[in-house]
Amino acid sequence: MPAPCNLVVLLSGTGSNLQAMIDQFRHADSLVRIRAVISNRADAPGLVRAANAGIETRVLEHAGYQGRGAFDEALMALIDGFEPSLVALAGFMRILSPGFVRHYHGRLLNIHPSLLPRYKGLHTHRRALEAGDAEHGCSVHFVTEELDGGPLVVQAAVAIAAEDTPDTLAQRVHAQEHRIYPLAIDWFAQGRLGLTPTGVVLDGHPLPASGHLIRP
Ligand code: GRF
Repeated sequence: MPAPCNLVVLLSGTGSNLQAMIDQFRHADSLVRIRAVISNRADAPGLVRAANAGIETRVLEHAGYQGRGAFDEALMALIDGFEPSLVALAGFMRILSPGFVRHYHGRLLNIHPSLLPRYKGLHTHRRALEAGDAEHGCSVHFVTEELDGGPLVVQAAVAIAAEDTPDTLAQRVHAQEHRIYPLAIDWFAQGRLGLTPTGVVLDGHPLPASGHLIRP
């Protein structure tokens, strides 16, 4: 039986992905322990979700720090106090410094609402619709210094319907996010998932560049 996996979650907003993790990992024999939820915004609703689940919360606002590097140093110290095996970005709306990303190399995951490498950055649902794409989706990836560009772990695709709006599409993509993010974290906790110098490995086998792809 692998050792428990301490997870620290960083967020800035709603926290529906955090809620999916709470729901998935709350049972007593789960390997994943959500040790803390840290936000750069004191008003993030995700903090309430964490508190309601009895999870420790911290707020670290960037005001008062001289630049990104100083803030990220303080953030690392805060995170490391919880001795995480894994750090999960779940709607954490800050660009992270190269030093931060290197410090958590191979143990920092992010979820992004598109089928990467398509649509890095913001407004992904609108951009997929405007491009006339037949499908859209979401991706979990290891974080590297390239924004939304790290090695892919798992993607879930959703079909785009003619009547979709950015909002209807976002809802279906979100439902898939809530499925694949806990899945990837669970793989990591079980020791099945890792980042090696040659790429992402699942169950001892290299994953393709697209990661593990789940289709509707
Ligand atoms: C999600 O769409 C995720 O893909 C992106 O930020 C959003 C967070 O949503 N990185 P929530 O706060 O988990 O509801």
